[in-house]
Amino acid sequence: MNLKDILNRRYTTKEYDATKKISDADMADIKNLLRMSPSSVNLQPWHFIVAETTEGKARMAKGTQGFFSFNEPKVTNASAVVLFCAKTDADDAYYQHIADTEDKDGRFPNEDIKNGFLGAVKAFAGIHKYDLKDLQHWMEKQVYLNIGSFLLGVASLGIDATPMEGIDVKALDEEFGLREKGYTSLVAVSLGYHAESDFNSTDKTPKSRLPVSELFTEI
Ligand SMILES: Cc1cc2nc3c(=O)[nH]c(=O)nc-3n(C[C@H](O)[C@H](O)[C@H](O)COP(=O)(O)O)c2cc1C
Repeated sequence: MNLKDILNRRYTTKEYDATKKISDADMADIKNLLRMSPSSVNLQPWHFIVAETTEGKARMAKGTQGFFSFNEPKVTNASAVVLFCAKTDADDAYYQHIADTEDKDGRFPNEDIKNGFLGAVKAFAGIHKYDLKDLQHWMEKQVYLNIGSFLLGVASLGIDATPMEGIDVKALDEEFGLREKGYTSLVAVSLGYHAESDFNSTDKTPKSRLPVSELFTEI
């Protein structure tokens, strides 16, 4: 499939075929997509909870109760569910951890370049932590960037997905002890294969987007 076909075919799945499972090879590609996403100064301010078992999805469904129950079948009938979590804070120890990891991965030919990188991380994070006072918000933006590339990536593997902000983040943070670990949940993405009866499939319902004339200014 070329890019145009992938973009036209992908859609937010509303009903999954619970009998269809994502292969282990595709799950490995999916985890690699999550890990390889870019982020500002390579901060990687995220953590992912991946549920593939019935028990794991039942735990994930604790975030789709009450007001959020419209999303519950998309969790329980999917093949897998990824919970995207963002860091709630970042400090010098974490910036050092990022620089040390880059160093271990062979990215710095000498100590000066490593220190230059560490300085850039501290400078950018410092602007958000102290000047703009939006560090947490900035880190969440990086997680959303990951979600965007993730949705296109899984579609390129022929896998259907449902991004869900309609989740009880407090319940999920409690279920997975996230806040104690320095994270909070943001968005869940269900993955699998749509049921034939899914009304929202692009075979049945056309996609809707604002017109090109409204979206672009060509200069
Ligand atoms: C961040 C985000 C959160 C969303 N939350 C939900 C949700 O909780 N439940 C749902 O059914 N769809 C959800 N959607 C799906 C959007 O409604 C959908 O992406 C949009 O209508 C465009 O349609 P398409 O994804 O089929 O192209 C969400 C999408 C995004 C990007």
